[in-house]
Amino acid sequence: MSELAPGLVLARRDALEDPCAILVEIGEASIVVTRRGDAIAAFRNRCPHAGYPMERPDGRMVVQEGRFIVCTAHGASFRLEDGACAGGPCSGAGLERVAIELRDGAVCVA
Ligand code: FES
Repeated sequence: MSELAPGLVLARRDALEDPCAILVEIGEASIVVTRRGDAIAAFRNRCPHAGYPMERPDGRMVVQEGRFIVCTAHGASFRLEDGACAGGPCSGAGLERVAIELRDGAVCVA
């Protein structure tokens, strides 16, 4: 976790569409930042099903029904706002959350 120092900026708040899930690569860390309404969250980009990163080959995340991240490996889905499993082969396991805070319009590591 040392690559995610407190205060590290992950995204600009006003750059996050509603809804969205964007991939942020910082050094060795691959992070997904999500927004749904006023809820903003961040997660490790590692699917709890088989440990794969979840994005498409072009680097974009798949958002379904405006509510779920879908892992492109085998289709597990996770709620944008808290990373909880919403279906698929992840056996109820959710995404690992990264603690964040808003500072001056930036989404930062807490
Ligand atoms: S690794 Fe994500 S659904 Fe299998």
